[in-house]
Amino acid sequence: MCGIVGYVGAAQATPFLIEGLTKLEYRGYDSAGIAVFDGEKINVEKSVGRLNALEEKIKNNLPTGTVGIGHTRWATHGRPSDRNSHPHTDCTGDFVVVHNGIIENYLHLKEDLIEKGHVFTSETDTEVVAHLMEELYDGNFEETVRKVLKKIEGSYSLVFMSRHDSDRLICTKQDNPLVIGLGEGENFIASDIPAIIARTRKTYIVSDGEIAVVKSDSVWITNREGVPITKKVFEVNWDAEAAEKGGYEHFMIKEIYEQSKAVRETMSARIAKDDSAIVMDELKWNKEFLNSIRKIFIVACGTAYHAGFVGKYYIEKLARIPVEVDIASEFRYRSPIIDDRTLTIVISQSGETSDTLAALKEAKRLGSKTLAVTNVVGSSIAREADQVVYTWAGPEIAVASTKAYTTQLIMMFMLSLYMSEIKKTIEKDYTKHLIGALRQVPSQIHEILEDVEPIKTFAQKYGFNEDVFFIGRSLDYAVALEGSLKLKEISYIHAEAYAAGELKHGTLALIIEGVPVIALATQESVYEKTLSNIKEVKARDAVVIGIALANDDQIEKYVDHIIKVPTTDELLAPLLAVVPLQLLAYYAAITRGCDVDKPRNLAKSVTVE
Ligand code: F6R
Repeated sequence: MCGIVGYVGAAQATPFLIEGLTKLEYRGYDSAGIAVFDGEKINVEKSVGRLNALEEKIKNNLPTGTVGIGHTRWATHGRPSDRNSHPHTDCTGDFVVVHNGIIENYLHLKEDLIEKGHVFTSETDTEVVAHLMEELYDGNFEETVRKVLKKIEGSYSLVFMSRHDSDRLICTKQDNPLVIGLGEGENFIASDIPAIIARTRKTYIVSDGEIAVVKSDSVWITNREGVPITKKVFEVNWDAEAAEKGGYEHFMIKEIYEQSKAVRETMSARIAKDDSAIVMDELKWNKEFLNSIRKIFIVACGTAYHAGFVGKYYIEKLARIPVEVDIASEFRYRSPIIDDRTLTIVISQSGETSDTLAALKEAKRLGSKTLAVTNVVGSSIAREADQVVYTWAGPEIAVASTKAYTTQLIMMFMLSLYMSEIKKTIEKDYTKHLIGALRQVPSQIHEILEDVEPIKTFAQKYGFNEDVFFIGRSLDYAVALEGSLKLKEISYIHAEAYAAGELKHGTLALIIEGVPVIALATQESVYEKTLSNIKEVKARDAVVIGIALANDDQIEKYVDHIIKVPTTDELLAPLLAVVPLQLLAYYAAITRGCDVDKPRNLAKSVTVE
């Protein structure tokens, strides 16, 4: 989730590049860089750290020229460093590229290019694109870009510069945002509207597969085959703040909608081409290593802890290793029984949560092997753990975690499958079936998000209740925990989650007429049992909202309202069932007039104990 800018015009490029990158800082960043053509060569300046580190570096010697590109990086491949910062160049320095996204087949391409004599200077996936430009250049900039696009797989928005055609920039995108701002005698390129809104409100929103040649006085757009495309000018009428939210009212709802893309990114490059296996190049675990692990601890806080709860079900069911899930602030003070046959997995979106970091250090001190699941490359937790896998969800800005949770679930699922393959604990056909179901998840999330009206209506109807209960069994219980946290943290409604089988051991006393109970019933293996629990609360006149799979034709008879999610394997149902719960929380908070993105007393990153 990097930020991209580009300029072609009569003015100096650098001031716009810096201004545009500043406007993209809200997306998160760990380094920044610009490249400007000075009439002879392309000068590249980059620096790790905040944008002002770059500004400081160039302030006495601003790169001059009227064509340039810039980038703020949110690291995915390769830790934050000067050399991993964008823009990236080929060996000659004639081709320069900025990129947002992931080139999935970069390792394979890099090996090929190294064999052909290319020398790489960074650990990034992006650098291969610059070298491919050099390798495939045939005298025609645009045609070379087309050839490069045929070679690369993954998601991207890309802007190319060439010393041979220094009057233009070429940009293209696949599954990542890209916009062209239309000025008078100058044109702008950006990954997001906030970067250009102060300069122009006339834009072309670039679609997947389109290739735009941007000069100071023209923008020429074609599809991948070279067929010209006539685009409509999109007039931006949002203010700067709304533009940062991509036109959504809040970051939270924007991030809820980003989930389908985010989970696709988490999976990308981690599934074998024939869907037969999960590939975790980051780990390279073997049978000997996994057989040495007697127990796994999953340690985290809040939403990440709930993701750990789901992870426990996955690992125990698929990889058959005992798992204990613990809240980090408990784990660090409770003398857990740990030795070198223990693997401790810590989950943290920010990678900075103080309790989680301390728990990780404690686990290490006691001799445990450690693995971090995090979203932030180079974060404290990523650095402290023996090994790390990144969720690649992109920056999460709203305090209430949404896309971080779903991407953590995907990661835990893939990790479990990866372990099960090494340990041979499940049949190959079952693995294939699960990977097939996993592939469907992004589009299934998208499907849920296409019709949010019924959820909005429930939220408006029940948003003023003071108590809400969530019940479910097995993985539905894990999702109930997350649904109740989401509701309470942003709407301030008192919400509790219970394992449905526990109701009669106490909670049933709280179920009285009119109390909303959200009952999750997506788990085939405990479905009948869950129905019995639904009947128990219905008998006490609760208002039951059922969350079920689309192929469920029974549940309607037992609930007052029903929200259906696409049918999937029960192991993946949490990824879909949680989405209506996030929306319910969001719209309940709106109904109650709460500050959704900044709930009272809460901070995004809890770096104190
Ligand atoms: C809730 C939420 C928090 C975080 C928790 C851990 O919506 O966001 O509960 O999940 O503070 O944060 P990370 O994952 O950054 O360690």
